[in-house]
Amino acid sequence: MTETKPAVLVTRRMPSAVLDQLAPSCLVDLHPGTDDLPHEEVCARLRGKQGLICMFNDRIDAAAIAAGDSLRVIATVAVGFDNIDVVAAAARGIVVTNTPDILTGATAELTWALILSVTRRIGEADRAVRRGGWTGWTFDFMLGSELQGKRLGIVGAGRIGRAVAAVAPAFDMQVVFAAKPGADRDSVSDETVVSLDELLLTSDVVSLHLPLTETTRHVINRRTLARMKRSACLINTSRGPVVDEEALSWALEERLIAGAGLDVFEEEPRVHPGLLQRENVCLTPHIGSATRETRAAMAALAVRNVVEVLGGRPAVTPVHR
Ligand code: DGY
Repeated sequence: MTETKPAVLVTRRMPSAVLDQLAPSCLVDLHPGTDDLPHEEVCARLRGKQGLICMFNDRIDAAAIAAGDSLRVIATVAVGFDNIDVVAAAARGIVVTNTPDILTGATAELTWALILSVTRRIGEADRAVRRGGWTGWTFDFMLGSELQGKRLGIVGAGRIGRAVAAVAPAFDMQVVFAAKPGADRDSVSDETVVSLDELLLTSDVVSLHLPLTETTRHVINRRTLARMKRSACLINTSRGPVVDEEALSWALEERLIAGAGLDVFEEEPRVHPGLLQRENVCLTPHIGSATRETRAAMAALAVRNVVEVLGGRPAVTPVHR
């Protein structure tokens, strides 16, 4: 009698060398495109599948989980798992895994790229040169602000927030964190922890490193933006809905803050028009983990998680709610 291999839906093209790791033990149903699979199609293709490898922008809600009548593992190729109804998955005994750690360095690097781009006006300067707006060196052309001696406020003391903080001494910056009590907060020294209010009032750069939950949604809003220094900038490489974009656009218009660097947006790939038109906003298209090394490692870890769980072994990186 031939044993049937478990079937796995993969919602996006991934490196073939990584997918090859699935082939010996699983039947792969790959969506070979780079576009999003419509939710109904995800549900339809989940029927009879034991495994799912999805991306952070696939909505794996209770309906999708119910459609996956044979599902045993959901492996997202991302550290954030706000797109997955983990309660519904747990109720069905489905293991959910993510890809923590391996994208920390890449995301921290992009965060610093945005900090430097905003404070030294890199995007604006580049655009000026390209359109012939640079007619010769002048003493006060494109003046930015320096990081040296300034305060970096990190909201969220998880792995990525801490990796960003680790670079701050190289720029002679002082770091403070605002973090909820718990494991993350315990990983940073008490003297560096302040309230969110104090962080906003005193930081020159405010960088967001929060998961998206009901309590972090719109944590940056009109009230919190109005608390920031007028000379400060806001950086977000976490999840778009942590920032109320309408409020941010207002704060920039009113010059309540000096600029923003954003890699994530409320309704990706749509960007609020009030942000698109501003020179003092640096926009990148959700590329925090987008290095060849990191993306390959993320895909490989997701595949390993699926192989382990479907092989009857514990997941390598299960998510903990
Ligand atoms: C993540 O890992 O959560 C990123 O946003 C996608 O790479």
